[in-house]
Amino acid sequence: MKKFNGKNVIVTGAAQGVGKETSLKFLEEGANVLMADINSSKFEDLKAELSNYAGQFHLMKIDISKQEDISMMIAEIINKWGSIDFVINNASVSLTKSMMEITAEDWDRVLNINVKGTFFIMLEAAKKMIEAGKGGSIVNVSSIAGLNGRPLFLPYAASKAAVINFTKSAALEFAKSGIRVNSIAPGTIDTTMWEKCSEDLSKINDCNREELIDGWVKRIPLKRLAQPADIANSILFLCSKEGEYITGQTINVCGGLSIA
Ligand SMILES: NC(=O)c1ccc[n+]([C@@H]2O[C@H](COP(=O)([O-])OP(=O)(O)OC[C@H]3O[C@@H](n4cnc5c(N)ncnc54)[C@H](O)[C@@H]3O)[C@@H](O)[C@H]2O)c1
Repeated sequence: MKKFNGKNVIVTGAAQGVGKETSLKFLEEGANVLMADINSSKFEDLKAELSNYAGQFHLMKIDISKQEDISMMIAEIINKWGSIDFVINNASVSLTKSMMEITAEDWDRVLNINVKGTFFIMLEAAKKMIEAGKGGSIVNVSSIAGLNGRPLFLPYAASKAAVINFTKSAALEFAKSGIRVNSIAPGTIDTTMWEKCSEDLSKINDCNREELIDGWVKRIPLKRLAQPADIANSILFLCSKEGEYITGQTINVCGGLSIA
């Protein structure tokens, strides 16, 4: 018996990286997955790659910073599969910039996507979960940058701190409806986001990118970057029966970096 047979899941930022891996693991465990992303250029390849799961997944282009796109996504999953069991709020953008150069537009972009987008998806999905009366699990992907300050990532780190904080408020408010809300704080994951960040960091610090990555990995107690599967495994755990007594928490999936 598969773990998530008949469960309906929204995964945002599903075109690549953590979102793609998480979607795949849910599909393997029998769930129906609405895979949302602003970047639809990978959808055709994804359709081919996931052809074994035809009928079990639905790809949708949305911009999570747009309220009308969020409403369309919620309507789409209800229309297709009737209810929402889990929401994986994973889409986000990073920004690597010296504090001296940060503009009001930078703040708006990062906060609109990472904070407001994540919040309104959580809220709109929770309304449907409450209507259905079956509870649910929401996982907001944050970052250990949201636990500590991080030079050159100020708006991003602040946005992820907001996610960790509102996860707790939402968990308290939704507990009476059986909806659990948790957050995952990854360290550094071997994805396109890190590729771009490490490139920007090496330019700003005027150093060699390979050497920068080498130095970064040395600081991680488990001596490797996270793979998307490391993060996806923790997300699935939080949605599983085994995670049913956990709410309002942030799990640091970072190879020990948050305590180094
Ligand atoms: N990569 C890391 O080192 C790292 C570290 C800590 C936390 N995280 C977090 O993990 C999560 C996954 O990151 P990843 O490394 O897989 O990143 P990624 O950049 O590879 O994937 C992010 C996905 O989100 C999508 N996206 C961006 N803006 C969007 C929008 N407005 N609407 C819809 N989709 C949008 C992108 O198109 C992309 O497919 C993110 O929340 C990220 O902040 C990543």
